[in-house]
Amino acid sequence: MSNLQQKKVKVFSGIQPSGQIHLGNYLGAIRGWVKNQDKKDNIFCIVDLHAITTPQNPIELKKQTEILTTLLFASGLDPNKNTIFIQSHVSAHSEACWILNCITPMGWLERMTQFKDKGENKKTVSTGLLDYPVLMAADILIYDTQEVPVGEDQKQHVELARDIAQRFNNIYGNTFVIPEPIIPNTGARIMGLNDPTVKMSKTFSNIRGHSVGILDSPDEIVKTFKKATTDSGNEIKFSEDPSKAGVNNLLTIFKVITNQNNDQVEKHFSNARGYGDLKTQVAEVVIQEFQPIREKYQMLKNNQEELTQLINNGAEIAQSISSKKLSEIKNKIGFIN
Ligand code: AMP
Ligand code: TRP
Repeated sequence: MSNLQQKKVKVFSGIQPSGQIHLGNYLGAIRGWVKNQDKKDNIFCIVDLHAITTPQNPIELKKQTEILTTLLFASGLDPNKNTIFIQSHVSAHSEACWILNCITPMGWLERMTQFKDKGENKKTVSTGLLDYPVLMAADILIYDTQEVPVGEDQKQHVELARDIAQRFNNIYGNTFVIPEPIIPNTGARIMGLNDPTVKMSKTFSNIRGHSVGILDSPDEIVKTFKKATTDSGNEIKFSEDPSKAGVNNLLTIFKVITNQNNDQVEKHFSNARGYGDLKTQVAEVVIQEFQPIREKYQMLKNNQEELTQLINNGAEIAQSISSKKLSEIKNKIGFIN
């Protein structure tokens, strides 16, 4: 690692391999990661250990993990600039989780709102679901992470990671960096195409017309946009009016992809022939944006050797960073080398 790299802020992002990666994920997260990949020292971890805290079909989990990993590379994340790996390939995560479990009071975990939400109305809940935030703390802390970009829903977990780090440091002496949660601004909050009053979400990806996936065919993308919910008017303008949320969402997608401001976008559509034309044009820019990603995805998928190599390299780098921290932790708590 060069001196220059060492000075960069260390960022850790975890992504669950569950559900289809959609336009919202792409515009709200992945695209920004690609743009900023030179600025920070980024680690992207596909968190399969977290995924199994709720029941998973093994075939589906494997498929989703492969798709997500390949998509991250295909989207333009450069493996020479970022560390991209699969969580279960690096045993330090589970080992550190166990050790951190032993200094984390149960009450801290029982208070977590995600645990309460996900556990609600379930007959049985796994111990893993309760322990989820400690594994997340382990993910973050074993890389001396400084910044953790997360959605609002995960902020409480990052705060818990801070509490766990502080508690460990108090008991055993300074060991962990205290990470900061970074909540991205909501500038590119993409709404459901079928229902523009709800955020586009993996949870609804099985609902027809809700979202478009990065790997959807151009035909599917056009079809989904043509059916997008708008209103009975014909004015193509940005608007805060809830009844215009559909058109506003389409314009936002167009604006983010084409890197224009509101005025430029409104001017662009000033001669459009109604909402039909708007939908077609938005579909077109989405297809163009996804085209190179789809191609790269297919290329990588057809070259399993290269893909395996990339995944193994990522794990090797993550392993070499985290194993040093793990040794330090084990040493501090009194384990024999
Ligand atoms: P999730 O799909 O909730 O696991 O989120 C993965 C990443 O995508 C997070 O960084 C989210 O903030 C981002 N994201 C998810 N849905 C949207 C959306 N509808 N609009 C913008 N960003 C999103
Ligand atoms: N819990 C996060 C989510 O569902 C994923 C995640 C796991 C994560 N480990 C992490 C995010 C560490 C940031 C840092 O979105």
